[in-house]
Amino acid sequence: MTDFLIAPSILSADFARLGEEVDNVLAAGADIVHFDVMDNHYVPNLTIGPMVCKALRNHGVTAPIDVHLMVKPVDRMIGDFIEAGASYITFHPEASEHIDRSLQMIRDGGCKSGLVFNPATPLHYLDHVMDKVDMILLMSVNPGFGGQKFIPGTLDKLRQARELIDASGYDIRLEVDGGVGVGNIAEIAQAGADTFVAGSAIFNTDDYQSTIDAMRAELAK
Ligand code: DX5
Ligand code: ZN
Repeated sequence: MTDFLIAPSILSADFARLGEEVDNVLAAGADIVHFDVMDNHYVPNLTIGPMVCKALRNHGVTAPIDVHLMVKPVDRMIGDFIEAGASYITFHPEASEHIDRSLQMIRDGGCKSGLVFNPATPLHYLDHVMDKVDMILLMSVNPGFGGQKFIPGTLDKLRQARELIDASGYDIRLEVDGGVGVGNIAEIAQAGADTFVAGSAIFNTDDYQSTIDAMRAELAK
């Protein structure tokens, strides 16, 4: 049986009470913390950086932190997030001048590495680096904002990515990000995803536990 991971995106959390929000969502059964880094350059929004990641570690968060870099250039942030206690670091291949080097930097720093694909970014960026990724993240919305609608074409792309992973024989997680909720998580899992980012679908509800339970119930179907 697949081990499904639920990764709440703290982009939709209350930033004024971030430590408490992360504690609450982990207590409610989340597996990993999805941490969206936006630079107002690669994407048209500005969020949080390595200091906030470090602050969560200092606050006592021991769960894996899944850092999704939406920044350009990439490499300097890789070093800073390794220092700040990241567990996974993923970046968009178009934003890196030297994809292989960036992936290597992440693993050399002791973190798990990954590439992120926008809805229109082809999977062929993986052709020569399947042995260097621990995670493939498919965006099911255009990056920059929470609360957008899931783009249905992602399901087909997930099936293609799942085939690539299975054929490679490597242990690679397949993550999906954007517009994921209780209503579509089962269908997304059937297409091959095993790691589910959900921001607004979790943080915009009153009871995180019942939302995460409902997601797990869908995944068990
Ligand atoms: C979008 C971010 C997502 C976002 C998802 O650029 O990468 O992680 O928080 O938000 P929802 O789940 O609300 O679509
Ligand atoms: Zn994200």
